[in-house]
Amino acid sequence: NFEKTLRPQSLNEYIGQSELKENLNVFIHAARSRNEALDHVLFYGPPGLGKTTLAYILANEMHGNLKTASGPSIEKSGDLAAILTTLEPGDVLFIDEIHRLPKQVEEVLYPAMEDYCLDIVVGKDSATVHNIRINLPPFTLVGATTRAGDLSAPLRDRFGIISQLEYYNLQDLEKIVYRTSCVMNTEIDKNAVAEIALRSRGTPRIANRLFRRVRDFAQVYNEGVISSEIAKTALDRLRVDHLGLDAVDHKYLKGIIERFKGGPVGLEAIASSIGEEPMTLEDVYEPYLLQIGFINRTPRGRIVTPKAYEHLQIPYQKELFTD
Ligand code: ADE
Repeated sequence: NFEKTLRPQSLNEYIGQSELKENLNVFIHAARSRNEALDHVLFYGPPGLGKTTLAYILANEMHGNLKTASGPSIEKSGDLAAILTTLEPGDVLFIDEIHRLPKQVEEVLYPAMEDYCLDIVVGKDSATVHNIRINLPPFTLVGATTRAGDLSAPLRDRFGIISQLEYYNLQDLEKIVYRTSCVMNTEIDKNAVAEIALRSRGTPRIANRLFRRVRDFAQVYNEGVISSEIAKTALDRLRVDHLGLDAVDHKYLKGIIERFKGGPVGLEAIASSIGEEPMTLEDVYEPYLLQIGFINRTPRGRIVTPKAYEHLQIPYQKELFTD
């Protein structure tokens, strides 16, 4: 199973996010020497930067099991209770997209996080209904979200460790691509590593996805060897440009320029004009376009910057008449 080995198992193997890694290392060692569960951890940041991977690593480093769930998958408080009651001391419960947890489920989570207690209501009518309290073992909740701002304040306040994951620099992405080539037993040229890293928009998940597709081209055209030329050809054929922008990014930027004169325009209007989900645009595409300065967000909506016009080779025309 590639996925299994592709994910680094320890903090030492994990590339990038060095500040975060060093802090986590301290918290892990301190908790372990006190023989306590690690405090609850919230990771936030764009998708594909390694939030899930870090949850696996935390469980490993704490010698606990990892249980996984996601905000939308836990529909009722009973669903959460079912998961919580399977935990053993030191286990890690990972909840992805934790900002999408239903409100009544969130309320069951508070005492579980704070006091390792589960308060549940039992009984089927007003005569027999009562609360019972179940003690839980010390555990660590690891929450992940692309939108820290969408988390309710009481939930956010119950995390002792809150960390933002950042886009990876080129050097770290190159290390990741090279590591992947080793794990997958693929011969790769140094320039091909650089080419894939360059076009993966700071995101390991994208780097690994591009690596797999480039490897397919290498297999068919070059006896499995990823040369620099094969990498360039493959990436061009995948329509990933040298900044890592794909067909959706292009459609998004050109949509704003051609239909909305470069903005400002609201997210909903852009989304419906290009047939994409507003949430996907906001969580997946816009963060990187903001990061590289291709769009700005203003109170009146999104605007495309001159830098993006230049990249798309569209003349930027400042409005001559304004009212
Ligand atoms: N694979 C994906 N992300 C990684 C990372 N941050 N370090 C090592 N391998 C990875």
